[in-house]
Amino acid sequence: MISPDTLERIVLLTLAKTGIKIRAEDRAKLSQKLSQRIKALALKNDREYLDILSQNCDKHKSEWDHLISFITTGESYFFRDRGQINLLKHHLLPDAIQKNKDSTTLNILSAGCSTGEEVYSLAIILGELIPNLDNWNINLVGVDINIEAISKARKGIYPQWSFRGVENHYRSVYFRHKLEGWEIIESVKKRVKFYQCNLVADEISFFPIGSVDLIICRNVFIYFDRDKIATVLTKFIRTFAARGTINHRTYRITRTRDYPSTGFNLF
Ligand SMILES: C[S@@+](CC[C@H](N)C(=O)[O-])C[C@H]1O[C@@H](n2cnc3c(N)ncnc32)[C@H](O)[C@@H]1O
Repeated sequence: MISPDTLERIVLLTLAKTGIKIRAEDRAKLSQKLSQRIKALALKNDREYLDILSQNCDKHKSEWDHLISFITTGESYFFRDRGQINLLKHHLLPDAIQKNKDSTTLNILSAGCSTGEEVYSLAIILGELIPNLDNWNINLVGVDINIEAISKARKGIYPQWSFRGVENHYRSVYFRHKLEGWEIIESVKKRVKFYQCNLVADEISFFPIGSVDLIICRNVFIYFDRDKIATVLTKFIRTFAARGTINHRTYRITRTRDYPSTGFNLF
């Protein structure tokens, strides 16, 4: 039902809009999902679907949300990467806490947060690192392009699978068991805000310029092409100016020389 030409246009539109590269081996599956979608929308043909994606209107926005749910990989779980967690727990967060002890404010962004496990893990670690946390102004923001992921993150209820590799201590202290799964306790939940945001196309304006202490963007750039990685990094650097740390992992920045004198540390 989807012609090769229309599929190619959708792949290019997706890359331009989201930064996500759709690999050759994933195209057959995408084509199948799009055919089902075209049928569900009762469209006459694939060109009509392409037209909807190309227009700038509410219908276009909700159709992109559908398409994004097909093409994004939201794989995440609590305390996922031991190396990253140790770096955060023993170096990056203690340094940021020390640096900000007079303002008692911390502004942290999880860019590409998926269903929230990463940023809730951070909230838990911060609670353990700062004994008088309620006297601090902690702003933890998770953003993702996938609206379904954001709505799950806001609910904060997780299946057992989200705890693979997590010490039992964390689950029993910070979660309550419910019929639908494990719900993050309110005292941690209230520290985190979630928003839909396309890192490539949207402004990243959740904090006053220059006030961000840490940006975590993990397992996101692996889906992007090089130009879009540069676009997003430039945006991080421009938006968050003069101080802070970008913890991106899993993508080796080979062009840090393009960002001299930013005051940023890239890990
Ligand atoms: C594999 S998950 C990573 C989740 C988390 N950072 C972790 O490492 O556990 C990648 C996430 O990046 C998001 N993403 C992909 N393209 C994006 C874009 N242009 N803007 C914002 N988020 C994006 C996807 O929706 C997905 O939830």
